[in-house]
Amino acid sequence: MSIVKVGINGYGTIGKRVAAAVSKQDDMQVVGVTKTRPTFEAKTAAEKGFDVYVPEESLQAFRDAGIRTAGTIQDLFRASDIVVDCTPGNVGEGYKAEYAAAGIKAIFQGGEDHSLTGVSFNSTANYRDSWGAQFSRVVSCNTTGLIRTLFPIDRKIKIKNAYVTVVRRAADPGDSKSGPINALEPSVKLPTHHGPDVQSIMPWLNINTMAIKASTTLMHLHTVVVELERDADTAEVLDILRSAPRVRLIKSKSGIKSTAEIMEYARDLGRDRSDMYEIVVWEDGVKVVGNKLYYYQAVHQEADVIPENVDCIRSMCKLEKDAAASAEKTDRALGIDKG
Ligand SMILES: NC(=O)c1ccc[n+]([C@@H]2O[C@H](COP(=O)([O-])OP(=O)(O)OC[C@H]3O[C@@H](n4cnc5c(N)ncnc54)[C@H](OP(=O)(O)O)[C@@H]3O)[C@@H](O)[C@H]2O)c1
Repeated sequence: MSIVKVGINGYGTIGKRVAAAVSKQDDMQVVGVTKTRPTFEAKTAAEKGFDVYVPEESLQAFRDAGIRTAGTIQDLFRASDIVVDCTPGNVGEGYKAEYAAAGIKAIFQGGEDHSLTGVSFNSTANYRDSWGAQFSRVVSCNTTGLIRTLFPIDRKIKIKNAYVTVVRRAADPGDSKSGPINALEPSVKLPTHHGPDVQSIMPWLNINTMAIKASTTLMHLHTVVVELERDADTAEVLDILRSAPRVRLIKSKSGIKSTAEIMEYARDLGRDRSDMYEIVVWEDGVKVVGNKLYYYQAVHQEADVIPENVDCIRSMCKLEKDAAASAEKTDRALGIDKG
C-alpha cells in the first residue's frame, strides 16, 4: 500500500491539529504545511519537523526571520496527493482552481459553502459519499457535533423535528482579536445556517436552529429538543448515545458541571493540546417525556473535526472502504477511547 502524501494549507487552529493527527497514521504522511507569515507558529512547525512552504513573495521574510522553508505553496501542491485546506473561511474557495490545475484532491473545511464541493463529509453518516472524490468538505464543528448525536438517534428512532440552540464560543483560546468579552450576542439572521449545514449531510431532517455568541473560548454548548416519531424512554436514547461513535457520556454528579471541567478532563486524559475529539453529552441531562427528547451537548470546536478530516482523506483516497474500520484506525492513533 502506498502512503498518501498530505499537504496542509493553512497552519492555524485546525491546520496544526490535522497535521499532528495525519502524522500519527500509518497510511498517510504530512509532506508539508504552509504559512504566509513568519510567526511563532511557523517557527514551531519547522521545529516539529514539518517542511514549511510559503508564498513566493514571503520567502525573504522567512529567511530574515531565520525560519527554514522548503519552497513555495505551489511546490507543496506539486508534492501532495491531497491537500487539507485549513485556511480561514472563504479563503479556501480561492485555492480550488489551483488544486484542480495541480491535479490533486482537496478537503475544505466548514468555513466554505457546501456548494463549493457539492459533497460534505461526516464519518458516521456519509463516509462513502466522498469515496474517490476530488473535492469534499468536512462540515463545521457545530454541524459535526449535531450530526454525531442526531444521526444515530434518527436511525434508531425516527426524528420528526429537531430544535437546537447553539451557544457559541466567541473566539478560540489562542485568538485575542475577537469578542464579545462580556456580552451575549444573538444571531438575528434566522433560522441560523447550522440547520441547512446539517441538511447538507442529512437532507431529510427537519431541523431548526438559533444561535447566541457567548463570552467564552472553551467550547460550544447545544441545547437540543427533538420531537420523535414515536414515544421512547430515556434509557433507550442513552443506549443509542452510548454506542454512537465519538460521543462521550459524562455525569454532572461526577463533578463535570460545565465546559470548564470538560476541558480539565481532556487535560487529565493527556490528549494532544488537551483536545476533546468526542461530543460530550451530560447523561443526567438527557430526558425523554413521551415523544419529546431533551439533551445538552458540548463541542470542543478546535478538536471534533480533526478525526473527520483523517477519515475523509481515507475515503477520498480509497484507503479504506469501511467507515467504521477507518474510524477505528483513526481513533486508535489519536487515543480516542470513549471511556
Ligand atoms: N476554529 C474553529 O473552531 C473551527 C472549527 C471547525 C472548522 N473550522 C474551519 O476551519 C477553517 C480554518 O479555521 P481556523 O480556525 O483553523 O482558522 P485560523 O486559526 O485563523 O487558521 C487559518 C490559518 O490560515 C493561514 N492563512 C491565512 N490566509 C492564508 C492564505 N491566503 N493562504 C494560506 N494560508 C493562509 C493563517 O496563517 P498565516 O497567515 O500566518 O499563514 C492562519 O493561521 C475555516 O474554514 C473554519 O471555518 C474552524
